[in-house]
Amino acid sequence: MRSFQVYNGGVKLFFGVNSLEEAAAYLRKYSRVLIITGRTSAKLSGALDDIIRILESSGVEYEVWSKALPNPTDELVAELVEVYRSGVFEGFIAIGGGSVIDLAKAARVVVAGGGSVREYLYGAREIPRTQPFLFAVNLTHGTGTEIDRYAVVTITETKEKLGFSPGYPDVSVDDPKYTASLPRRQTIYTSLDAFAHAVESATSAKASPYTEMLAEEAVKHVIEYLPRALEKPKELEYRYWLLYASMIAGIGIDHGVTHYGHAIEHVLTGSRPELAHGAGLAILYRELIKFFYEYSPVVMSRLLKPLDPSLKPIREDSAKAVKAYIDFLDKIGFRETLSDYGFTVGEVRELKALYFKLVEKRYESLLPFKLQWEQVESMLKNLV
Ligand SMILES: [Fe+2]
Repeated sequence: MRSFQVYNGGVKLFFGVNSLEEAAAYLRKYSRVLIITGRTSAKLSGALDDIIRILESSGVEYEVWSKALPNPTDELVAELVEVYRSGVFEGFIAIGGGSVIDLAKAARVVVAGGGSVREYLYGAREIPRTQPFLFAVNLTHGTGTEIDRYAVVTITETKEKLGFSPGYPDVSVDDPKYTASLPRRQTIYTSLDAFAHAVESATSAKASPYTEMLAEEAVKHVIEYLPRALEKPKELEYRYWLLYASMIAGIGIDHGVTHYGHAIEHVLTGSRPELAHGAGLAILYRELIKFFYEYSPVVMSRLLKPLDPSLKPIREDSAKAVKAYIDFLDKIGFRETLSDYGFTVGEVRELKALYFKLVEKRYESLLPFKLQWEQVESMLKNLV
């Protein structure tokens, strides 16, 4: 398991077991930083203790703010900005999964550019070029936010879950040992998020041979190592490859973007913040794989070969591809449906307005093909 570094956009990423030690050189020049974490995982993974040890041995002062929540909201961003402004800090250290890192990305934009995060989400304010330092210690193998320029924030009042491009962390750490304590469900959800990043970045309107190559590699590793990691969660080699898959799929979406899976998932989690992002995607993919395969049989057959080597690059094999995906979900014990989160057939009908706002308008230039609302509605009803 080799350690190495990757540069993407503006971020320098340190990958590998104990890679935090090497990345720590970037922290030593600061005198005071704000550490952002969720409630438990930073402590449980050992990453928070490691960071504190490094800061204390280097004489860097710090404060810990551990109020980050899954699916960060505009209100939480505002709260964090207040804390940052009141403490004379030079930068952020975000220790967590996608939600924690995204929260830090969003807050530093507001710290640097003023206004409210809503204005940036709606594109009414320019993202400031110069922002406080952000050092991200990633604790999950799913979102890719440690290496990409995106963040997702939900506006509580309107239930809009919106992605935007606040920019890259300055330095990121992907150390598999910090993902070994991920609970079983999070292991599944985050890996299937990475799977979705790979598939969407290879089939979007901005897909390229580069994103297809990254996707093929990422999907292969998720399929091979997710079942193994579920059997032996502490085995670092399995976590290493899942984290690698998630990181390169993150580069994939940075270059090839996401589309229908993420767009529709944002409609669902906007109204059900308790629905984990990866779980929402995994549920949707039971239906979406068919459309993706029919749109791009050549790419999709290549990606899904590890699930079913007999898949041919023809549209007619889309049902076979769906079966291969559902069999994989069965194998890893993922059987959730939209009803598990309280969605009803009647409620699906009411999502139409949000669908137009969040999918058709916001993702317009990124959608590779056109799904009619009626198709989406029947798809969602099948998933209830
Ligand atoms: Fe995602």
